[in-house]
Amino acid sequence: MAGPRSLAITSGKGGVGKSCVALNLAVSLARCQQHVLLVDADLGLGNQAILQSLSPEHTLEEVLSGLCPIEAAVLEGPEGIVLLPAASQLLPWHPAALTPAGLAPLRSFEAQFDFVLVDTGAGLAPKVLDFAGATDQVLLLTTPEATAIADAYALLKILLQRRPALATGLLVNMAESAKEAAELQEKFAELANRFLGAQIDNWGYIPLDRYVREAAKRQIPFTLATPPPPAARALARLAENLVEGQPTTAPQGLFAPLWRQFLSSGSPEQAPT
Ligand SMILES: Nc1ncnc2c1ncn2[C@@H]1O[C@H](COP(=O)(O)OP(=O)(O)OP(=O)(O)O)[C@@H](O)[C@H]1O
Ligand SMILES: [Mg+2]
Repeated sequence: MAGPRSLAITSGKGGVGKSCVALNLAVSLARCQQHVLLVDADLGLGNQAILQSLSPEHTLEEVLSGLCPIEAAVLEGPEGIVLLPAASQLLPWHPAALTPAGLAPLRSFEAQFDFVLVDTGAGLAPKVLDFAGATDQVLLLTTPEATAIADAYALLKILLQRRPALATGLLVNMAESAKEAAELQEKFAELANRFLGAQIDNWGYIPLDRYVREAAKRQIPFTLATPPPPAARALARLAENLVEGQPTTAPQGLFAPLWRQFLSSGSPEQAPT
Protein backbone atom coordinates (compact mmCIF):
# COMPACT_ATOMS: atom_id res chain seq x y z
CA MET A 1 0.00 0.00 0.00
CA ALA A 2 1.42 3.40 -0.95
CA GLY A 3 1.64 5.69 2.05
CA PRO A 4 2.61 9.31 2.56
CA ARG A 5 6.18 10.42 1.95
CA SER A 6 7.97 10.21 5.25
CA LEU A 7 11.04 12.25 6.06
CA ALA A 8 13.19 12.24 9.20
CA ILE A 9 14.94 15.47 10.14
CA THR A 10 17.96 14.33 12.08
CA SER A 11 21.51 15.21 13.12
CA GLY A 12 24.45 13.81 15.00
CA LYS A 13 25.07 16.99 16.96
CA GLY A 14 22.38 18.63 19.06
CA GLY A 15 21.16 22.17 18.58
CA VAL A 16 21.81 22.41 14.85
CA GLY A 17 18.20 23.44 14.12
CA LYS A 18 16.25 20.19 13.55
CA SER A 19 13.11 21.27 15.39
CA CYS A 20 13.00 24.71 13.76
CA VAL A 21 13.58 23.20 10.31
CA ALA A 22 11.02 20.42 10.85
CA LEU A 23 8.31 22.86 11.95
CA ASN A 24 8.97 25.42 9.25
CA LEU A 25 9.32 22.81 6.53
CA ALA A 26 5.96 21.42 7.66
CA VAL A 27 4.41 24.90 7.40
CA SER A 28 6.01 25.46 3.97
CA LEU A 29 4.69 22.11 2.72
CA ALA A 30 1.22 22.98 4.03
CA ARG A 31 1.41 26.21 2.02
CA CYS A 32 1.98 23.99 -1.04
CA GLN A 33 -1.41 22.39 -0.29
CA GLN A 34 0.12 19.33 1.33
CA HIS A 35 -1.50 17.67 4.34
CA VAL A 36 1.33 17.26 6.82
CA LEU A 37 1.73 15.22 10.00
CA LEU A 38 4.63 16.41 12.15
CA VAL A 39 5.81 13.79 14.64
CA ASP A 40 7.93 15.05 17.52
CA ALA A 41 10.11 12.00 18.09
CA ASP A 42 12.48 13.62 20.57
CA LEU A 43 11.09 11.42 23.34
CA GLY A 44 11.15 13.08 26.73
CA LEU A 45 12.60 16.30 25.28
CA GLY A 46 9.78 17.35 22.97
CA ASN A 47 10.08 20.93 21.71
CA GLN A 48 7.47 21.11 18.95
CA ALA A 49 4.51 22.01 21.17
CA ILE A 50 6.58 24.80 22.76
CA LEU A 51 7.68 26.14 19.38
CA GLN A 52 4.01 26.27 18.32
CA SER A 53 2.66 27.60 21.62
CA LEU A 54 0.48 24.52 22.06
CA SER A 55 -0.37 22.68 25.29
CA PRO A 56 -0.62 18.94 24.69
CA GLU A 57 -2.77 16.80 26.93
CA HIS A 58 -1.32 13.55 25.62
CA THR A 59 1.89 12.62 23.88
CA LEU A 60 3.58 10.21 21.48
CA GLU A 61 5.01 8.30 24.45
CA GLU A 62 1.48 7.52 25.64
CA VAL A 63 0.46 6.47 22.13
CA LEU A 64 3.52 4.19 21.81
CA SER A 65 2.71 2.69 25.22
CA GLY A 66 -0.90 2.00 24.23
CA LEU A 67 -2.20 4.36 26.93
CA CYS A 68 -3.98 6.80 24.64
CA PRO A 69 -5.45 6.73 21.12
CA ILE A 70 -3.45 8.74 18.61
CA GLU A 71 -6.53 10.86 17.79
CA ALA A 72 -6.52 12.14 21.40
CA ALA A 73 -2.85 13.13 21.26
CA VAL A 74 -2.66 15.10 18.00
CA LEU A 75 -3.14 18.87 17.88
CA GLU A 76 -3.73 21.28 15.04
CA GLY A 77 -0.79 23.57 14.41
CA PRO A 78 -0.23 26.55 12.09
CA GLU A 79 -1.47 26.32 8.47
CA GLY A 80 -3.43 23.18 9.37
CA ILE A 81 -0.41 20.98 10.08
CA VAL A 82 -1.13 18.16 12.52
CA LEU A 83 1.30 17.73 15.41
CA LEU A 84 1.88 14.54 17.35
CA PRO A 85 3.77 16.00 20.34
CA ALA A 86 6.40 14.35 22.50
CA ALA A 87 6.56 14.63 26.27
CA SER A 88 8.91 17.17 27.77
CA GLN A 89 10.05 14.83 30.53
CA LEU A 90 10.96 11.17 30.55
CA LEU A 91 8.76 9.09 32.85
CA PRO A 92 9.57 5.58 34.10
CA TRP A 93 6.78 3.99 32.08
CA HIS A 94 7.82 5.56 28.78
CA PRO A 95 8.66 2.95 26.12
CA ALA A 96 12.32 1.92 25.99
CA ALA A 97 12.07 0.60 22.44
CA LEU A 98 9.77 0.87 19.45
CA THR A 99 7.61 -2.21 18.99
CA PRO A 100 5.12 -3.23 16.28
CA ALA A 101 2.27 -3.01 18.78
CA GLY A 102 3.32 0.50 19.80
CA LEU A 103 3.73 1.68 16.23
CA ALA A 104 0.50 0.20 14.87
CA PRO A 105 -1.65 3.31 15.62
CA LEU A 106 0.80 5.54 13.70
CA ARG A 107 0.83 3.20 10.74
CA SER A 108 -2.92 3.41 10.28
CA PHE A 109 -3.27 7.12 11.17
CA GLU A 110 -0.61 8.37 8.74
CA ALA A 111 -2.49 7.17 5.64
CA GLN A 112 -4.53 10.42 5.38
CA PHE A 113 -1.40 12.60 4.97
CA ASP A 114 0.77 13.61 2.01
CA PHE A 115 3.88 14.05 4.15
CA VAL A 116 4.97 12.76 7.54
CA LEU A 117 7.88 14.73 9.00
CA VAL A 118 9.72 13.26 11.96
CA ASP A 119 11.73 15.58 14.22
CA THR A 120 14.24 13.28 15.93
CA GLY A 121 16.56 13.79 18.86
CA ALA A 122 20.28 14.18 18.27
CA GLY A 123 23.00 11.58 18.63
CA LEU A 124 23.37 7.86 18.15
CA ALA A 125 20.90 6.47 20.72
CA PRO A 126 18.75 3.54 19.54
CA LYS A 127 15.56 5.62 19.62
CA VAL A 128 17.12 8.25 17.34
CA LEU A 129 18.39 5.56 14.97
CA ASP A 130 15.04 3.74 14.98
CA PHE A 131 13.09 6.89 14.07
CA ALA A 132 15.69 8.22 11.62
CA GLY A 133 15.94 4.86 9.88
CA ALA A 134 12.18 4.35 9.76
CA THR A 135 11.34 6.88 7.05
CA ASP A 136 11.49 6.94 3.24
CA GLN A 137 14.15 9.65 3.29
CA VAL A 138 16.50 11.21 5.80
CA LEU A 139 17.23 14.90 5.89
CA LEU A 140 20.61 15.04 7.60
CA LEU A 141 21.16 18.46 9.11
CA THR A 142 24.48 20.05 9.92
CA THR A 143 25.87 23.49 10.47
CA PRO A 144 29.21 24.52 8.92
CA GLU A 145 31.01 23.83 12.22
CA ALA A 146 33.54 21.00 12.12
CA THR A 147 32.01 19.23 15.14
CA ALA A 148 28.52 19.20 13.59
CA ILE A 149 29.92 17.86 10.29
CA ALA A 150 31.88 15.11 12.06
CA ASP A 151 28.80 14.08 14.06
CA ALA A 152 26.62 14.09 10.91
CA TYR A 153 29.13 11.75 9.26
CA ALA A 154 29.19 9.45 12.32
CA LEU A 155 25.39 9.25 12.31
CA LEU A 156 25.26 8.63 8.56
CA LYS A 157 27.75 5.78 8.91
CA ILE A 158 25.59 3.99 11.50
CA LEU A 159 22.35 4.64 9.61
CA LEU A 160 23.88 3.13 6.47
CA GLN A 161 25.13 0.10 8.40
CA ARG A 162 21.55 -0.49 9.50
CA ARG A 163 20.04 0.33 6.08
CA PRO A 164 22.56 0.49 3.19
CA ALA A 165 20.06 1.87 0.64
CA LEU A 166 18.84 4.70 2.87
CA ALA A 167 17.99 7.80 0.80
CA THR A 168 19.74 10.73 2.43
CA GLY A 169 19.92 14.42 1.67
CA LEU A 170 22.25 16.86 3.39
CA LEU A 171 20.92 20.28 4.40
CA VAL A 172 23.35 22.89 5.72
CA ASN A 173 21.78 25.13 8.35
CA MET A 174 23.09 28.48 9.61
CA ALA A 175 25.32 28.93 6.56
CA GLU A 176 27.13 32.29 6.30
CA SER A 177 27.03 32.18 2.49
CA ALA A 178 25.98 30.07 -0.50
CA LYS A 179 29.65 29.43 -1.21
CA GLU A 180 30.30 28.07 2.28
CA ALA A 181 27.31 25.72 1.99
CA ALA A 182 28.24 24.56 -1.53
CA GLU A 183 31.81 23.72 -0.48
CA LEU A 184 30.54 21.77 2.52
CA GLN A 185 28.01 19.89 0.39
CA GLU A 186 30.69 18.93 -2.14
CA LYS A 187 33.20 17.78 0.47
CA PHE A 188 30.63 15.79 2.48
CA ALA A 189 29.24 14.05 -0.61
CA GLU A 190 32.75 13.14 -1.75
CA LEU A 191 33.71 11.69 1.66
CA ALA A 192 30.43 9.77 1.96
CA ASN A 193 30.93 8.37 -1.52
CA ARG A 194 34.59 7.45 -1.09
CA PHE A 195 34.45 5.93 2.41
CA LEU A 196 30.82 4.81 2.80
CA GLY A 197 29.89 4.16 -0.84
CA ALA A 198 26.85 6.41 -0.36
CA GLN A 199 25.19 8.89 -2.72
CA ILE A 200 24.16 11.91 -0.67
CA ASP A 201 21.73 14.35 -2.25
CA ASN A 202 22.46 18.06 -2.00
CA TRP A 203 19.38 19.62 -0.35
CA GLY A 204 20.86 23.08 -0.24
CA TYR A 205 21.18 25.39 2.74
CA ILE A 206 19.39 27.69 5.12
CA PRO A 207 21.19 30.94 5.89
CA LEU A 208 22.13 32.06 9.36
CA ASP A 209 19.19 34.33 10.09
CA ARG A 210 18.68 36.16 13.38
CA TYR A 211 14.92 36.19 12.79
CA VAL A 212 14.85 32.39 13.37
CA ARG A 213 15.84 32.91 16.99
CA GLU A 214 13.36 35.80 17.38
CA ALA A 215 10.52 33.62 16.11
CA ALA A 216 11.53 30.76 18.43
CA LYS A 217 11.45 33.19 21.37
CA ARG A 218 7.97 34.29 20.35
CA GLN A 219 6.91 30.65 19.80
CA ILE A 220 5.78 31.17 16.22
CA PRO A 221 7.12 29.61 13.01
CA PHE A 222 9.45 32.03 11.17
CA THR A 223 7.80 31.02 7.89
CA LEU A 224 4.68 32.97 8.96
CA ALA A 225 6.53 36.30 9.00
CA THR A 226 5.89 38.96 6.37
CA PRO A 227 7.97 39.78 4.51
CA PRO A 228 9.49 36.29 4.71
CA PRO A 229 12.99 36.33 6.23
CA PRO A 230 15.81 34.66 4.23
CA ALA A 231 15.50 31.37 6.15
CA ALA A 232 11.78 31.20 5.29
CA ARG A 233 12.50 31.71 1.59
CA ALA A 234 15.03 28.87 1.68
CA LEU A 235 12.49 26.50 3.27
CA ALA A 236 9.76 27.51 0.82
CA ARG A 237 12.14 26.52 -2.02
CA LEU A 238 12.96 23.21 -0.34
CA ALA A 239 9.24 22.46 0.14
CA GLU A 240 8.52 23.24 -3.52
CA ASN A 241 11.37 20.96 -4.60
CA LEU A 242 10.06 18.17 -2.39
CA VAL A 243 6.54 18.49 -3.77
CA GLU A 244 7.58 18.83 -7.41
CA GLY A 245 10.52 16.45 -7.36
CA GLN A 246 10.22 12.75 -7.73
CA PRO A 247 10.75 10.89 -4.47
CA THR A 248 14.07 9.02 -4.57
CA THR A 249 12.28 5.89 -3.44
CA ALA A 250 8.63 4.89 -3.71
CA PRO A 251 6.80 6.34 -0.68
CA GLN A 252 5.91 3.61 1.75
CA GLY A 253 5.07 5.65 4.78
CA LEU A 254 6.53 5.84 8.21
CA PHE A 255 8.17 2.79 9.73
CA ALA A 256 7.86 0.56 6.65
CA PRO A 257 11.59 -0.32 6.81
CA LEU A 258 11.42 -0.85 10.57
CA TRP A 259 8.40 -3.01 10.06
CA ARG A 260 10.28 -5.27 7.64
CA GLN A 261 13.13 -5.44 10.15
CA PHE A 262 10.72 -6.57 12.87
CA LEU A 263 9.20 -9.16 10.57
CA SER A 264 12.53 -10.54 9.36
CA SER A 265 13.88 -10.76 12.90
CA GLY A 266 10.82 -12.82 13.85
CA SER A 267 9.47 -10.42 16.45
CA PRO A 268 7.01 -12.30 18.65
CA GLU A 269 4.56 -9.41 18.47
CA GLN A 270 2.03 -9.45 15.70
CA ALA A 271 2.40 -6.76 13.03
CA PRO A 272 -0.88 -5.41 11.65
CA THR A 273 -1.68 -6.07 8.01
N1 LIG B 1 19.06 29.28 10.29
C1 LIG B 1 19.19 29.67 11.56
N2 LIG B 1 19.68 30.90 11.86
C2 LIG B 1 19.81 31.29 13.15
N3 LIG B 1 19.47 30.55 14.21
C3 LIG B 1 18.97 29.32 13.99
C4 LIG B 1 18.79 28.82 12.66
N4 LIG B 1 18.27 27.56 12.76
C5 LIG B 1 18.12 27.31 14.07
N5 LIG B 1 18.53 28.36 14.83
C6 LIG B 1 18.54 28.45 16.31
O1 LIG B 1 19.32 27.35 16.79
C7 LIG B 1 18.83 26.92 18.05
C8 LIG B 1 18.62 25.41 18.04
O2 LIG B 1 17.53 25.12 17.19
P1 LIG B 1 16.65 23.80 17.41
O3 LIG B 1 16.10 23.71 18.77
O4 LIG B 1 15.70 23.75 16.27
O5 LIG B 1 17.80 22.70 17.25
P2 LIG B 1 17.68 21.11 17.41
O6 LIG B 1 18.66 20.51 16.47
O7 LIG B 1 16.28 20.69 17.29
O8 LIG B 1 18.17 20.91 18.91
P3 LIG B 1 18.08 19.53 19.77
O9 LIG B 1 19.20 18.65 19.26
O10 LIG B 1 18.30 19.97 21.17
O11 LIG B 1 16.74 18.92 19.52
C9 LIG B 1 17.57 27.73 18.32
O12 LIG B 1 17.89 28.79 19.18
C10 LIG B 1 17.16 28.25 16.95
O13 LIG B 1 16.45 29.45 17.03
MG1 LIG C 1 15.00 19.58 18.60
